Amino acid sequence: MSTVPAERTDSAAPVLSMRGVSKHFGAVAALTDIDLDVYSGEVVALVGDNGAGKSTLVKILSGVHPQDAGTVTFDGKDVSIHSPVDALNLGIATVFQDLALCDNLTVVDNLFLGREIGALRLNEVEMEVQSWKLLRQLSAKIPSVRVAVASLSGGQRQTVAIARSLLGSPKLIILDEPTAALGVAQTAEVLNLVERLRENGLAVIMISHNMQDVKAVSDRVAVLRLGRNNGTFRMKEVTTDELIAAITGATDNVVTQRAAQSGSAARQAQAPGGAGAPASADAAEEGNGK
Ligand SMILES: Nc1ncnc2c1ncn2[C@@H]1O[C@H](COP(=O)(O)OP(=O)(O)O)[C@@H](O)[C@H]1O
Ligand SMILES: [Mg+2]
Repeated sequence: MSTVPAERTDSAAPVLSMRGVSKHFGAVAALTDIDLDVYSGEVVALVGDNGAGKSTLVKILSGVHPQDAGTVTFDGKDVSIHSPVDALNLGIATVFQDLALCDNLTVVDNLFLGREIGALRLNEVEMEVQSWKLLRQLSAKIPSVRVAVASLSGGQRQTVAIARSLLGSPKLIILDEPTAALGVAQTAEVLNLVERLRENGLAVIMISHNMQDVKAVSDRVAVLRLGRNNGTFRMKEVTTDELIAAITGATDNVVTQRAAQSGSAARQAQAPGGAGAPASADAAEEGNGK
């Protein structure tokens, strides 16, 4: 069986629970009836093809878009997330793909941008001390906190962006494609960082296209396809092929396309000019039930 149920049975409640969450953009159903649970101290990979709804889901959790339907429970309470500030106040931090760092500013300045310590005067010493503390906690390899972010590698920039999101003491951190632009060594560095986040008891949602990265750090993986749940798997129990099948929908296709082909070929032979589409739809439905 390709779809291994991966509901956790721990007594602890998930820190995040989404139930029946839907979102339309005009006529486009970006998300339909999505369920998702994430526990503290685990990394859940969120995967799916382009247009599957990953970014929309993240935007609902980070207060960019309101959902049309469904509920979000966070830290035991039903919540409405109306703005990015709401999300941060709840303890949901998102590191978007563009990182939103200021290249010309130093690491310290980026970390504390908008929340400088010291009411009127910045306490530079204290900010630097806290920066190092934070980066050490992440075992981050940053040469100096007084260099401009522009001079850092892609992995180091990702590290700074993640460190910054930790300053609000979030319970859930969402990383959108954290390794997409990185080489092998930098990817390893960022994946180590993701493991530190888990060790620190955070719940992590990591969006990724890279199955190797997903397999390396995730405890569970949630697959979205065409805006719907298409399986949640425990990483230890799923193969890369099974994951890719869930992402592409190949689980139905490989088996049922063949059935559909032979079915429609047979119908066409009986009734020349007959449409193949109904045969495919029938076969796909039979296939899905298996
Ligand atoms: N702001 C928007 N306006 C209209 N359609 C959108 C918007 N954002 C996303 N969509 C549509 O919603 C669907 C899901 O998109 P998205 O969440 O970006 O998927 P993913 O991140 O998995 O690639 C797509 O069909 C996309 O075109
Ligand atoms: Mg996206």
